[in-house]
Amino acid sequence: MYTENIKKDLLLFAKATLSNQIARFLPGFYVRITAQTGRGEGDDSSDEIAEYFHQCCQDYRKQLGYDEAAFKAFLADKAVLEYGPGDILGVALLLYAYGATSIHCVDRFPLNKISDKNRQVYLSLLNRLHGDEKQRAMTVFNIPGDPDSGFNSKLIEYSVKKNGLSGVTNAYDLILSRAVLEHVNDLDATFLDIKNALKPTGKSIHKVDLKSHGLDRYRPFDFLTWSDTCYQLMYSHKGFPNRWRVDKYVQAAKNTGLAIAHLEPDQTLSLEKIDHIAPFLAKNFRNVPREQLSWLSFWTVLEHVN
Ligand SMILES: C[S@@+](CC[C@H](N)C(=O)[O-])C[C@H]1O[C@@H](n2cnc3c(N)ncnc32)[C@H](O)[C@@H]1O
Repeated sequence: MYTENIKKDLLLFAKATLSNQIARFLPGFYVRITAQTGRGEGDDSSDEIAEYFHQCCQDYRKQLGYDEAAFKAFLADKAVLEYGPGDILGVALLLYAYGATSIHCVDRFPLNKISDKNRQVYLSLLNRLHGDEKQRAMTVFNIPGDPDSGFNSKLIEYSVKKNGLSGVTNAYDLILSRAVLEHVNDLDATFLDIKNALKPTGKSIHKVDLKSHGLDRYRPFDFLTWSDTCYQLMYSHKGFPNRWRVDKYVQAAKNTGLAIAHLEPDQTLSLEKIDHIAPFLAKNFRNVPREQLSWLSFWTVLEHVN
């Protein structure tokens, strides 16, 4: 393992291992007492967060290769599943506005809530829309246009499930996630859930963030130098990154029989920085090709094998 201060790292190990047990047995309590609060609790303004959700939808559109009109035509009559929406169902609201029939959001942690900030985000999302899209977006709430009345679950359903899995079969035309797969605790189980839940002609689009999420201590990617046993003891129940690199995602697609229609890095770390940390990597990363190790985030589109 890479260290520049062994005492500091031993203390970190002890604290993280203890809080991992709290997260294991009292996940709701853990979410409340830690920073697992979601996008709405950050420093961004409600308009900036609304812009983030707008950008997410634009990115999904681009991954599908559609212009705006074609994206809306595609979404009409489509059932969508979103894994891990966080505390604001902004993507779901926009996809419904653009024409999707229903959106089911499933999460492992109960983050979704109406706070002052989140209410402002929903209102900002509504204010950016016009015409039919705005009318549709208003109706996602039990009282049209009023986020406090809650979501009409026939249009946007939110559920918290064990391991964040939908558990359904042949139900969705589009399955999405952003900044989620790097947190799942059993990648094969999530890929199998995608395979089962996706309709035969469906598409599944994911943006995966392979960065350390604040777990690097001294150098980029030094969180990859804890042994797997230590890392599991410290972080396995907290929704922290699972650390898997892109090779593991390719393997999970193979294991579950999903085809990878598209796979591309979005950001990369310099190979020089990879070479700095390479001699200290934990065993499970030592055989990952150097170029793949440099991926900081990537997009993938999955579908059924023809
Ligand atoms: C970094 S947040 C991203 C939230 C949102 N997608 C966004 O872009 O703002 C990660 C989300 O993944 C969820 N999550 C963690 N493990 C999960 C799992 N196994 N299945 C589904 N969601 C999970 C978390 O609870 C959280 O909602």
